[in-house]
Amino acid sequence: MPRSCVSSVSRRSFLAASAAVTAAGLAPRWAAAGPGVRELRLAAGLGRVHLVGGSDPETAVWAYNGAVPGPEIRLRQGDRLRVTVENRLAEETTVHWHGLRVPNAMDGVPHLTQRPIAPGATFVYEFDLPDAGTYWYHPHQRSFEQVGRGLYGPLIVDEPEPIEVDRDLTWLLDDWRLLPDAQISADFGNFMDASHNGRVGNTVTVNGRIVESFAVRAGERVRLRLINAANARVFGLEFQDHRPQVIALDGQPLAPHAPDSGRVVLGPAMRADLVVDMSGRPGERFTVADRFYRGLEYRLLDLVYDAAPPLRDHPPDAPLRLAANTMPEPDLATAERHDIAFGGGMMGGMMGRGGMRRGMQHAGIWSINGVAATGHLMEPFLTLQRGRSYLLAMHNDTAWHHPMHLHGHAFRVTARNGRPTRDREWQDTVLLAPRERVEVAFVADNPGDWMFHCHILEHQAAGMTGVIRVA
Ligand code: C2O
Ligand code: CU
Repeated sequence: MPRSCVSSVSRRSFLAASAAVTAAGLAPRWAAAGPGVRELRLAAGLGRVHLVGGSDPETAVWAYNGAVPGPEIRLRQGDRLRVTVENRLAEETTVHWHGLRVPNAMDGVPHLTQRPIAPGATFVYEFDLPDAGTYWYHPHQRSFEQVGRGLYGPLIVDEPEPIEVDRDLTWLLDDWRLLPDAQISADFGNFMDASHNGRVGNTVTVNGRIVESFAVRAGERVRLRLINAANARVFGLEFQDHRPQVIALDGQPLAPHAPDSGRVVLGPAMRADLVVDMSGRPGERFTVADRFYRGLEYRLLDLVYDAAPPLRDHPPDAPLRLAANTMPEPDLATAERHDIAFGGGMMGGMMGRGGMRRGMQHAGIWSINGVAATGHLMEPFLTLQRGRSYLLAMHNDTAWHHPMHLHGHAFRVTARNGRPTRDREWQDTVLLAPRERVEVAFVADNPGDWMFHCHILEHQAAGMTGVIRVA
């Protein structure tokens, strides 16, 4: 299996990069701001980071506080967070708190929930954290380029009583399109990416580095928080001879289980919390491989066991089940049903009817219920009553995958292609395979206008976005 799908970055430079994964980003400096309020500053600006490593040059990026990923924001369930965001970019920006059920005015959607933050200006976000879990933050202004150039960071909300593990780690995955000089290819928003499966790159990083090996100790139990921050790449990770248990998806607990066929599939923006018992022996080496795209399999990194004697002989029997979060339970018997169809793309139909090109963005390639969003289209396509239960029956009428994300809420994924799901898992982003039908249910309990869009950021920019109003 090739080391990666990297084509333009040399294999040599790849192999030279053997840095171990370090904690994501730098620890933010907290300021005390009254009881339970955690405060920090995030500056979005230009930076240079060593993505490739070895003797390759640094990569010019856009970054929060100069680092990719940005600082890991880590709080406890029930805390309140206040973040002052300073825009040092040459264009407008915002910050969206992906998966957090924040008040609408704090959601970071330009022209819908706030005015974009102008260059040189600041904006203060402040909200409570009712739920524990693994989340992340990123701009919502021209996301296909701002996220694609490195603006994102992890946001972890700890349970009051976390499960017992030896280490709690975050792997923030990203996929870059680099040129041979290790610089980011500037072809953002091109028609080819927009009309096919988005900007899939050639270089995969973990916590902002190409990682060769990841040191583990025999017998240890690790909680691994995976976050997919890529514009478009879907990951399908397999942990050779290890048996990860999935304990949460998109930050939301579910019954611990081994993933189907041992593969953890994560569409863009999705998260999975795994518990991995390091069952190998001292000195052994195992490959974590990404096998999502057929013919493009690659080795993400190796788990490398150090020489230390096993921490224990048997996996611990401490429970893995996390306490439930605070979403209200939808009432499926009375839930009002709405059908939502996704159309367009190459081989989809919309193209034949003449997708429009608008500068670098290609509005009209993708559609939701026949409407391809253009410009700042912010009229809701669906209005829901606050406090009622809803069932959204989504149909993917295209030849492509789409990770569909709803802001301000989490939903239960109740059925796929007419069959009930394993655990009616809570998610905020659900991956639809080509032609797949997926049903989700939730209580519309958070008032405001909420984005509902594909998280392949090129699809979002090319029409696959809409607004759902909770009145
Ligand atoms: Cu992670 Cu609307 O976004
Ligand atoms: Cu899509």
